[in-house]
Formats: sequence, structure tokens, C-alpha cells
Amino acid sequence: MSKITVVGSLSTDFVVNANKRPDIGETIIGENFTTTFGGKGANQAVAAARLGGTVSMIGTVGSDLFGKEIVSNLENNSINTTFVERVTQKPSGSAHITVVDGDNSIIYIPGANDEITEEQINLAQSRLESSDVVIIQNETPLNIIEQVIQTCYEKGIKTIYNPAPAKKIDRKLIEKVTYFTPNESEFKLLFPELSLSEGMAKYPNKLIVTMGSKGVYFNDGEKEVQVSSYKVKPLDTTGAGDTFNGAFGVALTSGLDMVSSIRFGNLAAALSIQKFGAQTGMPTLNELKESVYYEKEWDIK
Ligand code: RIB
Repeated sequence: MSKITVVGSLSTDFVVNANKRPDIGETIIGENFTTTFGGKGANQAVAAARLGGTVSMIGTVGSDLFGKEIVSNLENNSINTTFVERVTQKPSGSAHITVVDGDNSIIYIPGANDEITEEQINLAQSRLESSDVVIIQNETPLNIIEQVIQTCYEKGIKTIYNPAPAKKIDRKLIEKVTYFTPNESEFKLLFPELSLSEGMAKYPNKLIVTMGSKGVYFNDGEKEVQVSSYKVKPLDTTGAGDTFNGAFGVALTSGLDMVSSIRFGNLAAALSIQKFGAQTGMPTLNELKESVYYEKEWDIK
């Protein structure tokens, strides 16, 4: 089984469904309110664990009830939480999400997620070193992202860096990661001077751009490759990118090639967006195998 370590955010999502987004100064009546488990890091860990990965999480929650429930949720998904610390100085992270017609807009409050320390990463060094792949995103302080990427680079550990949400980063970091997975808008913010084709050619087999219903694009060193997404009717796209990254990590470390790993990730994401909430619809390996789109040659145990 793939050994996957996710370094990243753990949050509670406060989700409102409405038939429009309010204008400035406007009050509207929403349709529904729910709290669900979220945080890009935790979402990616859950996606990978449900698909059969042996997953460890490194991150920080508050000492509040939310933190307790976030950790229990990871454990219920068979994720190792030895390196999830509880801190007293900040409340657990949260995301405030409005879903309209299946698409979300999000305000993320880092809270305890910003309290992760370099010492915490040092303590988890052996866990990082024994991983087949380490996954990290941008809801974590930049110094920690740099430390994790540097450590993995020096030790030859594969990394998937999902730069979401978009923030300016030192491009040297991209040289050190194995896979870099922005979506289209994150790509544009990071590489304003490059077209998509130029960007993908600059980082062949590394820069993988997820474009929602348009599919996933990368350059294989000779040509551009487009891997189509599966056509489904989305109920809630929250966490689709996280599902893709977690599933992609499982597929790669199970020995699938790049295109098959992307197809595997796309299928997991397509199933996830047919249910409400970031983690609710993330499929188990059995659920994925029951899909008419599952490809027998993927052969993931
Ligand atoms: O990627 C989706 C996640 O990002 C949500 O679950 C929410 O926590 C946000 O930060």
C-alpha cells in the first residue's frame, strides 16, 4: 500500500447553500446551513486514505471542540494523527463557504493551522522520510512549505505541491517538487508572463494544470497532453481539487503512469462532486471500482 504523508490544513467548513450570492449591503434568505469537515490538507488526506493509501497527517488544530472532532474524523478515516498537534493560542481553522448552483466561494480563516512549527516538522522527519509521496498545499505558512519541500528534495522523497489557494511563491520551490498541480487561475497568478503551453513546456511531466470540466493538462516532454474529465452533473464542487490530488498521489505511488494516474484522480473527483460537502462524496476504492468508468488495468489493491 502507498505510504502517503499530507502536511496541511485541517478545518471545519461552515457551508451555506443559496440561490444567489448577496450583493454588497444586501441580505438574502439562504436555503440551508451545514457544518462539514474540510481544510485542503485534511481533504487530501481523506481522499487518499479512502482509496487505500496508508496516510499520515501533519498539521495543527485548536484545543476546542472543533479540533477534537477534526482529529476524530481523521481517525475514522484510518489516518494516522500522531503528528497532528493541538494548540491553545488559536481556535481551529475554519472555512466559510457559499455554494450557489454547485459552485463555491470560500473565506478561509487559518486559526491554529498557522501555528504549525518547524520543530513539529523536525519531529516528523522519519515519517516524511518513510513516505512514498508527501503532499502539501498553500493553506500552510510558507516557511513550513519551504521546509517540507527542502527536506523531501534533499532526501529524494517525491512531492506533490498543490498551490491552492493561490499565493506568490519563490519559483525555486517548483524546481524542487516532483509534481506541481495548480488550477487554471492559480497558474495565471503564478506565471502571468507565460501562456499555459509555455508553462507546461517549461516544466514537462511536473506542471499539471487542473481545469475542472475541461480536464487536466500537462506536457510529457514531447507534446501537450489533455486528459479529459468525466462528464457528471455536479452538486457541489467543493474539494474536487483535493480529491484529485489525494487520488493522484495514490495512483502514482501504486505504479500507474502519469496519464492513468490523472484519469484515476479525475474519476475520484467526478464521483466526489456528486455529493454535498468536501469529504462526503470522496469515494472509497470499492466505490471507484464499481464505477462504469473504472479501468481494470489500473489494478490498485
Ligand atoms: O478545497 C476545498 C477546501 O478549501 C474546503 O474544504 C475548505 O476547507 C477550504 O479551505
